[in-house]
Amino acid sequence: MSRHIPTAEYGLHNLSGLNFDLIRKSLKKKSVTNDSYCKKFEKEVSKYTGSKYCLACNNGTSALLISILAIESKNPVIIIPNINFISAANIIHLLGGKIILCDVNKKSGMIDEKTFEEIIRNCKIKKIKPDIFIPIHYAGNVLDLGKISKICKNENIKIIEDGCHSFGSSNKKIKVGDSKFSEFTTFSFHPVKNITTIEGGAITTNSLKNYKKLVELKTFSLIKTDIHDPYQLKTPSLNFRMGEINAAIGLSQMNKIKKFKSVRQNLVNYYIKKFRNFDEILTIENKKDKSIFWHLLFIHLNKKYIHLKKRLMIFLKSKKIGTQIHYKPISEHKILKNTIILTNKKNSMEFYKSQLTLPLHTGMKKKDIDYIHKNIRFFFKKFT
Ligand SMILES: Cc1ncc(COP(=O)(O)O)c(C=O)c1O
Repeated sequence: MSRHIPTAEYGLHNLSGLNFDLIRKSLKKKSVTNDSYCKKFEKEVSKYTGSKYCLACNNGTSALLISILAIESKNPVIIIPNINFISAANIIHLLGGKIILCDVNKKSGMIDEKTFEEIIRNCKIKKIKPDIFIPIHYAGNVLDLGKISKICKNENIKIIEDGCHSFGSSNKKIKVGDSKFSEFTTFSFHPVKNITTIEGGAITTNSLKNYKKLVELKTFSLIKTDIHDPYQLKTPSLNFRMGEINAAIGLSQMNKIKKFKSVRQNLVNYYIKKFRNFDEILTIENKKDKSIFWHLLFIHLNKKYIHLKKRLMIFLKSKKIGTQIHYKPISEHKILKNTIILTNKKNSMEFYKSQLTLPLHTGMKKKDIDYIHKNIRFFFKKFT
């Protein structure tokens, strides 16, 4: 077996402390999918996020898709941030809907009041009527939806929060997943996320009506009727169930969540300390904050050094330091050009050019950050 190098990936799962007794039991149950362990996991996620209801599913993309279907818009016109994973855009495209790309704040990578007001103004000029808005809580951060949600209410736009990066984060006003300002919040439990079920996802909501729709949509929307006429199809849907073994893993991860959060916070704080004299070259965007469960460690290269980003990434790779760019803006995926009907992208293009993700996961130690720091310092001494 090859030796694991903690800095080789920007993110990595941590499956320590698994309850193998529970995992064994999950395989010996009469029902090995979508049963009591999933229910228990849903209850724990509900309690942890402060939402009334939770539905577990097979990944974060499914969580977004089911939530969009539950809003029951015939031809959805959906506002999403241009800095975004590809999930939401692909779903809208496949559903035959239309995408409106909202610009983000240059530093945080998230939509803010200003960029949201601007996109709504542009929609009005072009006589476009959006019906859903899917903001992202990016990198572990918490997006303030207070004022934005008021605008959405006035415009009759439903909100689905994409909380895939920010399970366990909060600020003074909300905890991600409490769905205080939205119909739904979606989560991914992919291996690099704050907790994992290997593959998996969840949706939280405070509305019983919404929750009932999700339950139906999760299993094809087939309603059992009679023994000789077993199913009635309500709305076409697919299979999004979570397996019992995944829920058992999720339950073990919930026991480690406090530890995972504090390890990530300590690593972020150490990054901030180590890189404090790098002002001229780069800015770490993560903050010291006990309520944030950091998913990504992200930096911006200062303008003068942006042209060196690719060389830096290649150099760090040669030193077994994994980096990533989160994300290529959705506007730059040419295949989606007929689905995108409006784009505001000035800041997101700037963000894209300067953003870089450095390694952050619970298998790392301070000495790994020393190693990353040493190599970045060496690179800029040599090439500038
Ligand atoms: C912001 C965001 N949304 C949605 C997803 C989709 O989650 P999954 O990979 O579990 O389908 C991801 C996953 O990487 C994500 O980062």
